[in-house]
Amino acid sequence: MTAVLILHGPNLNLLGRREPEIYGRMSLEDINQQIHALGNEIGIETRYVQSNHEGVLIDTLQEAQSWAQGVIFNPGGYTHTSVALRDAILAIGIPVIEVHLSNVYSREKFRHRSLISAVCMGKIVGFGWRSYLLGLRALADILKADQSG
Ligand code: DQA
Repeated sequence: MTAVLILHGPNLNLLGRREPEIYGRMSLEDINQQIHALGNEIGIETRYVQSNHEGVLIDTLQEAQSWAQGVIFNPGGYTHTSVALRDAILAIGIPVIEVHLSNVYSREKFRHRSLISAVCMGKIVGFGWRSYLLGLRALADILKADQSG
């Protein structure tokens, strides 16, 4: 079965309570449940990791190489700063889709720059928790098309 890592970066454990006017009122667990339900519907196994630590995110990406066919990744604030996460994405050689709940382009200028976009397969921003679902649908379609030749 096709397996996908859902990776959440720093402060996303606070979803629902953290700036709800920007990030919405759903908790991370609620969002993971929505992703899980979609995974079941489209035949994708999903596994979930959240970390506030850059090194743990890197370790998790490296480990995913051995079991996942792709990654849905919201790197939170590290999006705008982390060369090391960019290098990890390049190193693992499996497709990564960048997602953000908020529309980063309608926010502060420092959020307009992403160090990882250029090494990701694609990017979805601004649809709240639905960004993850849109990302998973796109990734699943692409993986299925690849598998069928
Ligand atoms: C975010 C956007 C980032 O700029 C911010 O630092 C986050 C969340 C989003 O999902 O909208 O932590 O990645």
